[in-house]
Order: sequence, then structure tokens, then C-alpha cells
Amino acid sequence: MDGVLCSNVVASQHEVHRRFGGVVPELASRKHTEQIEDIVQEAISLAGVSLTQLKAIAVTRGPGLAGALLVGVSFGKALAYALDIPWITVNHLEGHIASAWLAQPDLKTPCVVLVVSGGHTHLYFAPRFQEYQLIGRSLDDAAGEAFDKGAKMLGLDFPGGPALDRLAQAGNPQSVRFPRPYLNRGGLNFSFSGLKTSLLYYLKGLKKDGQEFSPADVAAGYQEAIVDVLVEKTFRAVRRHHVSTLAVVGGVSANSRLRSSLQKRANDSDVQLIVPSIDLCTDNAAMIATAGLWAFTRGEFASWDVDAKANLQTRLSLLPSSTDAQLVHQ
Ligand code: KG4
Ligand code: ZN
Repeated sequence: MDGVLCSNVVASQHEVHRRFGGVVPELASRKHTEQIEDIVQEAISLAGVSLTQLKAIAVTRGPGLAGALLVGVSFGKALAYALDIPWITVNHLEGHIASAWLAQPDLKTPCVVLVVSGGHTHLYFAPRFQEYQLIGRSLDDAAGEAFDKGAKMLGLDFPGGPALDRLAQAGNPQSVRFPRPYLNRGGLNFSFSGLKTSLLYYLKGLKKDGQEFSPADVAAGYQEAIVDVLVEKTFRAVRRHHVSTLAVVGGVSANSRLRSSLQKRANDSDVQLIVPSIDLCTDNAAMIATAGLWAFTRGEFASWDVDAKANLQTRLSLLPSSTDAQLVHQ
């Protein structure tokens, strides 16, 4: 079954959380409750359809913030029940993965997919369409967390990732060098928590000595460390699995330096790179609808007693006994 994207409405909560410097879970769910009805109405009207024309409703079940998930799940389930149509639960990570196919419908498998968001840094090998094996992940902070925490230390506005990206564009990525964590260990796994500690001590050192510094250079050097590790390990995965197609998805894939570094490496190594447009990288409804459409065609509908699950695991399989899988689990 082919899908056509008719509307993709996103309600940003940045203004609500900005003065707290991060997402406040209670405020997030309250805001969801306030906005969900209007957002659904807007999506329906922009699509030029009526509620009664809907064949199914897909909702994110997890992983994520429990309260916010609960609002979406309760609303979606109730609406589907009232309309007497099936409802479908989607794993948020599979939603991000689906955004690659939304951007490039004829994306070929086998391929490697890197999901880089605020909560996850996962490398998958996809031997076939809709089949994924986890081959690497962050053992501590996600890359998005490293961006957000680094931005906070540099006194940047929330959300940190895009602010750090903007500041770094005015800096020299080579002028301050930060460590490349796990570059030569841990197989295809990542680790980002040590990097933010390096930044913390670097900034403390500057302050103690009363030294002048260029925040743009520091931001560019810090960003370069994250980007280097992401690009290097991802292309190692591409080589190890002998694929010539790579998709990179999730909020951090909106990062300008990551996009250009990936593209350069892809050109040099003759790899086809798919990175969705910025609005499909960060959280959006269209990616959930795409993964929902896949579930619809597989005939996977949720029963009415299914609920939101904050720590929902993926239905994605693992390589049975490879070193990759052992490393992923270490
Ligand atoms: O996928 P996403 O919208 O939400 C989650 O599932 O987490 O990703 C959000 C993350 C945040 O950490 C945000 O700072 C980061 O993506 N992000 C960026 C950029 N745009 C969003 N990080 C670096 N550079 C960007 N341009
Ligand atoms: Zn996300």
C-alpha cells in the first residue's frame, strides 16, 4: 500500500520549557492535553478529509515521557473507538526509521540506519525492508543529550542542540580539541557522557585562569568531537555490513555539521546517503503515520487494553550471536 503525506502538523512546546532550560515532564503532558484536539482538527482539515474517512489511527506508544505518551494514546484510542476503526501503536524509534522511507520511498535494503535523537543513539543494520538488527548504541548519554548539556554549559538557549549548531557555524572546529570518546573501542557502541565532562573542566579551567575565549570556537570543537565519532562509527558499520546505502534520522540529524560530514564521507566512499529534510528529522507526526501505515499493511492492530509504555522496547531483532550483539549488550 502506498502512502501519501497529506498534512504534518507539529505543535512546538519550546516556549513553555525555555525558561526552565529543559523539558518539564508535567508541563509537557499538560500542554499536550491542551493542544491535542486542535492539532488533530488542523491536521484533518489541512489534509482535506473528514474524520469519518479515516481507516485507522496510529499513535506513539513509547519510548518517551509517560505523561505525554498517555495523552496521545488515550486520545488516539478514544477517537478510534468512537469512529469504530482500528488503532495502531508505533514505537517512536521505528517512527524515526520510517522517516527515511518517507524521504526516499525507494530506499534500498540492505542498509545501515543511524537513529540520533535526544534519547537514543542507535545503529541498525536493516537486511530487509521493515527488519532491523541493533548493532550499536550509546552506552550512556545519547548524542542529543551531549548537544543539549553542552549547550547549557555554554549558556545557550533551550533547545540546546540547534543553538549550539548555530553558534558553531561561526567558530573554527579545529581550534579547541575535545576527546573522541570510544572511537577505538566498544565496537559499534558509543559513549558521550565523558565528553560533556571534558567540556565542563575545560570551561572551569578557563574561568579559573580568567582567560578570554571564543564560545563559537568551543562550540565548534565540541560539536566536531560528537560528529567525528558518529560519522566514523556509522561508516565502520557500513563497511562491516557491506552495504552501499545509509540512512541517518532523528533530531540530531538536523545538525548542519553532521549532515555535511556525512555527505562528504558518503561521496568519498560511494555510499548513497539519505537524511530527511529538517522537519522530518525532529519529532513529527508524518513519521509516526508512515510506521503506522507499515503496521496497517502487516495487519498489526492494537487491542483496546494496550497502554502507553515509557520504556517500550523495539520489536527490532538483534543479531543472534555476533560480536556486534555481544557488544551492544555489554
Ligand atoms: O528526535 P527528536 O526531535 O526528539 C527525540 O526523540 O529525542 O530529537 C531531539 C534532539 C534534541 O537533543 C535536540 O537538541 C537535537 O535533537 N537537535 C539537534 C539539532 N536539532 C535538534 N542537535 C544538534 N543540532 C541540531 N541542529
Ligand atoms: Zn524523536
